Amino acid sequence: MQITAPDVELYQIQVPMIATAVFNNKGGVGKTTLLCNLAAYLALELNKRVLIVDADPQCNATQTMFSDEELEEIYDNDARFSIYSVIHPLSLGEGYTQKLRPVKRPNFGVDILIGDPRLSLLEDLLAKDWGSGLSGEVRGLRTTFVFQDLLNRCKDYDYVFFDAGPSLGAINRSVLLACDLFISPMSIDIFSLRAIENITEAMAQWKKKLNAGVKQVAKTELASIPGTSMDIRFAGYVTQQYTAKTTGDGEKRAVKAYEKIMKRVPRQIAQNFVKHLQPNKTRVEYLLGTVPNLHSLVPMAQVARKPIFELKAKDGVVGAHFSKVKDSRDLYEAVATRFLENVEELDD
Ligand SMILES: Nc1ncnc2c1ncn2[C@@H]1O[C@H](COP(=O)(O)OP(=O)(O)OP(=O)(O)O)[C@@H](O)[C@H]1O
Ligand SMILES: [Mg+2]
Repeated sequence: MQITAPDVELYQIQVPMIATAVFNNKGGVGKTTLLCNLAAYLALELNKRVLIVDADPQCNATQTMFSDEELEEIYDNDARFSIYSVIHPLSLGEGYTQKLRPVKRPNFGVDILIGDPRLSLLEDLLAKDWGSGLSGEVRGLRTTFVFQDLLNRCKDYDYVFFDAGPSLGAINRSVLLACDLFISPMSIDIFSLRAIENITEAMAQWKKKLNAGVKQVAKTELASIPGTSMDIRFAGYVTQQYTAKTTGDGEKRAVKAYEKIMKRVPRQIAQNFVKHLQPNKTRVEYLLGTVPNLHSLVPMAQVARKPIFELKAKDGVVGAHFSKVKDSRDLYEAVATRFLENVEELDD
């Protein structure tokens, strides 16, 4: 009797790629820092295939991963392949870009589709085409779903993370339309509580308008649009301890205010993101972690072009810094673990 090896393909479970935006329309809350370190943790420690898409014209994620010399070389070349190359052909009526050219970043274990300051020049195009898409124009809807088309070409990755700038503008709307999930770093202040409401309200309006626009498209033309609805879900948030810290008398007051607002965050999340995006998922633990003040490790990692949890003596780590690096590893492990659990919980 001939014994043949089992057909491996039969036993491999093909897990679909998950696209996640790290998003908060509040600026400077640690989005890019969280994204780069979480993505690196998933890639380096958990062997996931990860792509970062730098969709913020500030290009901070790109800056985190390339040396100054590399950045100069990249940005001196007008023909560079970046996020701009993905959208710009649409403004010329040339359709979607066929081939993506992400770059490997061994220090982080990820690939990155680099950012581009010229992306901000395309905000108007995306805004205008969103408007025409809402009246059922196919061209407008194709531009609006440009990132969905991009993601359709990224099926070989396990996770794609979008870094997004701090706005509820047209670029971020298109990013959020295409993503399966978003996670939000939050500073603990009254403005973050309001931001949760604003984001929810904006998403509700986008969904409604988009559905009305798509309804007007002829059935025969629907297949030429890579997406037809907004199905994003909320996968969790991280809070920051460090924004509350001040010195002297101020510290007590700051910590008190911090605790008061901190208590309101879960309810605000439940009444907004969860209620509107996933009302059947009230039992999920949405707090992914609490980010401590990592002090000088953050600029140290920026200079070394490394994840914070990978810093070593040769990068300038001395004395008590070593335990901080270890703490940061524990933090990103906890955030990554909870994130993966939530991905599963939300999958139905
Ligand atoms: N855990 C931390 N401890 C100390 N400083 C931090 C920490 N995380 C981020 N920072 C610092 O806070 C600043 C803002 O962080 P980051 O760029 O990640 O925020 P962002 O939300 O992406 O900002 P933007 O809205 O401009 O994109 C940076 O200078 C960064 O070095
Ligand atoms: Mg950022």
